[in-house]
Amino acid sequence: ILVVVGGQAPKAIRSVECYDFKEERWYPVSELPTRRCRAGVSVLNGCVYAVGGFNGSLRVRTVDVYDPLRDQWAQAPSMEARRSTLGVSVLNNMIFAVGGFDGSIGLNSAECYDLRTGEWRMVAPMSTRRSSVGVGVLNGLLYAVGGYDGASRQCLSSVECYNPETDTWSLVAEMSARRSGAGVGVLDGLLYAVGGHDGPLVRKSVECFSPETNCWVPVADMMMCRRNAGVIAMDGLLYVVGGDDGSSNLASVEFYNPKLDSWSMLPAFMTIGRSYAGVAIIDKPM
Ligand SMILES: *[C@@H]1O[C@H](CO)[C@@H](O)[C@H](O)[C@H]1NC(C)=O
Repeated sequence: ILVVVGGQAPKAIRSVECYDFKEERWYPVSELPTRRCRAGVSVLNGCVYAVGGFNGSLRVRTVDVYDPLRDQWAQAPSMEARRSTLGVSVLNNMIFAVGGFDGSIGLNSAECYDLRTGEWRMVAPMSTRRSSVGVGVLNGLLYAVGGYDGASRQCLSSVECYNPETDTWSLVAEMSARRSGAGVGVLDGLLYAVGGHDGPLVRKSVECFSPETNCWVPVADMMMCRRNAGVIAMDGLLYVVGGDDGSSNLASVEFYNPKLDSWSMLPAFMTIGRSYAGVAIIDKPM
């Protein structure tokens, strides 16, 4: 099932809904303990972590964790830094929280959470401040894609890659377009950057990166312009959930089939339009 956590509709919300791929329907599960949008969401050990974000008044360092078997949320240890519009991914059984915005400045820092110690610790900072950054893990490396550099006030096309063995970041090839608030997902050994915006322009374009060639290549445009959407891969398809087109929050979900290089709309929409939601895939609890 696909889990969609919180988001902006139009304010930060507690609602969590799930899509059952087999039954092709949406249903609600336990709400977040606090309102949360612009968080990073990932799955570790079968539980869904909602990391940081914005609660309607403050950028937070808090973390909520969802146990699907008990349909219950609990508090997990808080990050070192307040971060909204951050990127979150799991690498080597640890949650990495990258960049984001703390309420006054875009962040270049990154930290990781180890379930065994129950603690967050800082890792090497990126070369660039990146709020509204998308992240993905491919071949044991974590990629931080685009975002917004509060210092130069530019949406970014640059991409950097973290190697946990050396605790270093290095730049890889730039995207063909500046993308802040892009959705990032990994499918069949490729890293996808989906939509996002450059200033007022919200994109429907999509490109994908191959680490073998160190090249970004365009693929088919989405059906809708989207930024701040949730992106996740499942069964050979890349799902793009909600987001906003520059004027409204979207309830629709579309998916990309790389074999056909084409996008399709999921027939069932979410119950509400939401941008800045987090998404995850988990096994359906029995
Ligand atoms: C947001 O978080 C702050 C700090 O954690 C808390 O004091 C405040 O009550 C929260 N606001 C809402 C609307 O939940």
